[in-house]
Amino acid sequence: MEKLVITGGKRLEGTIEISGAKNAALPLMCTPLLTDEPVILTNLPRLADITTLTDLLNHLGVTVTIAGGDGTGSGGRSLTFDASNIADTVAPYDIVRKMRASILVLGPLVARMGEATVSMPGGCAIGNRPIDLHLKALEALGAVIEMEDGYVRASAPGGLKGGSVRFPFVSVGATENILMTAALAKGTTTIENAAREPEITDLSKCLTSMGARISGAGSETITVEGVERLHGATHAVMPDRVEAGSYAVAALMTRGNLLLKNARAEDMQAPLDVLAEAGAIISNDADGVRVKSNGHLQGFNIVTQPFPAFPTDMQAQFMALASVADGASVITEAIFENRFMHVPELCRLGADIAVNGSSATIRGVNSLKGAQVMATDLRASMSLALAGLVADGDTVINRLYHLDRGYERLEDKLRAVGAQIERVND
Ligand code: UD1
Repeated sequence: MEKLVITGGKRLEGTIEISGAKNAALPLMCTPLLTDEPVILTNLPRLADITTLTDLLNHLGVTVTIAGGDGTGSGGRSLTFDASNIADTVAPYDIVRKMRASILVLGPLVARMGEATVSMPGGCAIGNRPIDLHLKALEALGAVIEMEDGYVRASAPGGLKGGSVRFPFVSVGATENILMTAALAKGTTTIENAAREPEITDLSKCLTSMGARISGAGSETITVEGVERLHGATHAVMPDRVEAGSYAVAALMTRGNLLLKNARAEDMQAPLDVLAEAGAIISNDADGVRVKSNGHLQGFNIVTQPFPAFPTDMQAQFMALASVADGASVITEAIFENRFMHVPELCRLGADIAVNGSSATIRGVNSLKGAQVMATDLRASMSLALAGLVADGDTVINRLYHLDRGYERLEDKLRAVGAQIERVND
């Protein structure tokens, strides 16, 4: 089993290059299902989740090849996705169980092929996470939904028709699924209370360059005028705002100074505002965002909400920050009902955290102490790595596969800016 061993106490200084965004790449990789022409995606991160979705696309008959001889070195890699021959419209349990985002193939497949069957994504460590909004939205476009043996089947033998979708609350995945589906439905679809996350805007840009007619992406109401067919395109995946935000926290926690190359401040304004309140000096450089410490670290309060408010995917990392800040901080998780699993692990490192329902009160301590910890999900793992960067002695993080789902070359990137961090195999 691989482990990460971090020896805390090193100040981080230098440049970290931010990779393409996992959460943008996953929906973007489903867009080729909508066309018989090749779609090229550049700046794809090398992550376990990308491999899982590639396996699923391969299973469906999509050929995935390295584009333009690229594939090594920095700057992400470029892949060509060719879905000219869809061989199967069933997404099997064995692949879907590994990654909830597999549900994103459902809409595109039914739009292109008239039917699709996807294994129900199971319960997930960070809450119940149902898919009812995805299914209701598809029904609004005329799909018939049936459930059998743990699978959901959507069919539209006569084709899909544009419709009116109003989400009762914001869902990133459901907005993405219906946006892709509506691109090929006959007539106009309006999506109200749509997610406004930057990943939605990135998906819309890619679809538009494939010939889709979309307006309002990035706002609460998106209008899609369906077209008869989409064509191939080349699209660069946006930079990962969660990866950038995580390293921004590392800069402040270690009283360091990091240039987050490629990061876009407008994608992460809410976390940057909290960092500034906590003691970061933030500047927009020509090629990214610079975050450096003003020498102090002050507590802060956060409530997670859909974009443009503070993202749930940064909650665990900011809890690590609050653990060593002056005074008390309150962090409220308002998106997922069970996303505090990093709390007991942070406490093993000496953090003082009390959870009451969906809120956690964190009283900053003078120092954390290295220990063996175990991560339960992706962002929780990152919060433990961040705590390890400032803890006295060695912090050993087990179950590395969570981190590998979402952070590309984590230890290389951190080591290059001064961290003492090793991946070991026992
Ligand atoms: C995406 C992100 C994830 C992030 C989350 C919230 C990807 C691959 N994942 O996940 O990293 O934490 O957005 O920003 O982009 N819900 C329902 N019914 C549904 C769908 C969602 O009740 O059909 C609920 C969820 O349980 C959750 C809330 O809606 O409480 C928001 O979830 P959603 O925005 O859909 O998250 P994902 O798209 O799964």
